[in-house]
Amino acid sequence: MCGIIGYTGHRPGVPVVVEGLRRLEYRGYDSAGVAFGLKGGLEVIRAKGKLAALEEKLAHEPVTLATTAMGHTRWATHGEPAERNAHPHRSNDGRLAIVHNGIIENFQEIKADLLGKGYVFHSETDTEVLVNLIAECRKSQPDLLKAFAAALRQAHGAYAVCLMDRDDPDTLLAARMSAPLIFGIGTGEHFVASDIPAFLPYTRQVIFLEDGDIVRCTAGDYAIMRLEDLAPVRHPVQTITWDMQAAQKGGYRHFMLKEIFEQPRVITDGLSGRVQDGKVCLPELDGLPVPERLHIVACGTSYHSGLWGRHLLENWAHIPVQVEIASEFRYRESLLLGKGDMVLVISQSGETADTLAALRIAREKGVPVLGLCNVVGSSIAREASAVILTQAGPEISVASTKAMCSQMLMLALMALYWGQRNDGDAAERARCLSLLESLPVLLGEALPAMHERARELSRKYAQARNFFYLGRGHCFPLALEGALKLKELSYIHAEGYAAGEMKHGPIALIDPAFPSLVLALDDELYPKVVSNMVEVKARQGKVIALCNTGREPDADDIWRIPALPSPLAGFMALPALQLFSYEMADYLGKDVDQPRNLAKSVTVE
Ligand code: AGP
Repeated sequence: MCGIIGYTGHRPGVPVVVEGLRRLEYRGYDSAGVAFGLKGGLEVIRAKGKLAALEEKLAHEPVTLATTAMGHTRWATHGEPAERNAHPHRSNDGRLAIVHNGIIENFQEIKADLLGKGYVFHSETDTEVLVNLIAECRKSQPDLLKAFAAALRQAHGAYAVCLMDRDDPDTLLAARMSAPLIFGIGTGEHFVASDIPAFLPYTRQVIFLEDGDIVRCTAGDYAIMRLEDLAPVRHPVQTITWDMQAAQKGGYRHFMLKEIFEQPRVITDGLSGRVQDGKVCLPELDGLPVPERLHIVACGTSYHSGLWGRHLLENWAHIPVQVEIASEFRYRESLLLGKGDMVLVISQSGETADTLAALRIAREKGVPVLGLCNVVGSSIAREASAVILTQAGPEISVASTKAMCSQMLMLALMALYWGQRNDGDAAERARCLSLLESLPVLLGEALPAMHERARELSRKYAQARNFFYLGRGHCFPLALEGALKLKELSYIHAEGYAAGEMKHGPIALIDPAFPSLVLALDDELYPKVVSNMVEVKARQGKVIALCNTGREPDADDIWRIPALPSPLAGFMALPALQLFSYEMADYLGKDVDQPRNLAKSVTVE
């Protein structure tokens, strides 16, 4: 996701916009840029990297003269972080500039049509295509508002956009579809922005624009219309009561909580453009053979994603998979045989040293390496033979949450994709795809109650100094992840264990002060897990049973969550585990977003 802001009013516009971008940097920081009207021209100034690089460039520009401006801070989705891909993007005729947050799914076909009409492109972005589509529409519809609307009706996907015209530099046009855009109403000034913090110091009067809204505004006037026919639209003006810091977290106490609740959108964004006519589209993989053996290599939470994904890759694509911790893989003579092997490295940051080392070892052995990353242009994304981007948006909290959700989604899509290339069961694939597409709504509905139950149980077990997390099958990796979250956030010792392994020694640890959180979801192993719970309770161990609605296992505390067909049930269990560790850490007064001793990306051995 990216951050956009537009301003028109009585102040110098560029400083207002730059300050707004600073408050939106949590949405992305690969590059930034501004546009503003000056002496009949439209100035566009952009810089790769954080906002400071742009400010350095602006220091030499006459930016105080313009009272209308717009800006963008980028989280790359199409095109690596580079100045040529930074927003704003101009139309070929130089008359228009646009900033955009979202993904235009059909930009390739629009681009092909425009190329045929003689347009040239200087970036790999979908945004530059959109601004030239508007210019093309303007040839037959000189009224820019109507040309803007005509172009947006052709664009499929998600967008929050702001547009400026060289010939009318004090007017802003803006629109939203499936991406946030808020309209700010000041005295003799107006704002559009991806999020409230961008203009909160200037006004608390806002209109939350809705999908299909188009806005035209100047310093003293504004109109909100419907995309399909430009009919006027009326929305209530609301007053924001948040303080600034809370606003950057969208009103959540911590970035971690915000990112846990972003998981429904992460799934929506991850599916965007990747399912067409009942088939999975992963063009990133089209040029690679279907692997005969897949070696997944990763660290921490990403390693747990890989362990979870193995079940789907083996069951849905019938590909033998082994999963290994990167720091182990890199120091043993792994039996990568070359032909038929593929290595998949999973890394949110794309910079984890051990995982990057594993990638380089595999490449030296001539084995194709697929990257699964969240950061465009990261070392792993650049050095892999091919890369799939999770598009989860920046993950600010050190504890990884939405990134794992996005990794699991991509692994499910990869399993279905390779399954369809291996002539897998089309009906089963259609059923799984339909389930994945239903996840965002199901998860969004379940999260509030899940959060409440996590809060209750965290208070009840806050005195524990040790915890077991137990699971079987696809719940075993989730048990490992739940334990990692509790450890790294609340500093309580927690151990994820295969439930069936307890009787081979660890059960000696069980006593009333050593509780177990047991993942007992509806699947073929449920009866076995119930037996393991009985074994723990028989030794006076306390048990929290994380199970599905309707179940009545014999446990000290039952935590019911909505059922999903195995193995996709992990998408519902994961946030429960995340919320439990979040509430425990917050209750114990820990630094939730930046736990002690940790870093967001471990770029050293
Ligand atoms: C996750 O909560 C941890 N902070 C950590 O284990 C992390 O998953 C690990 O360092 C791997 O990071 P990566 O995904 O960026 O490679």
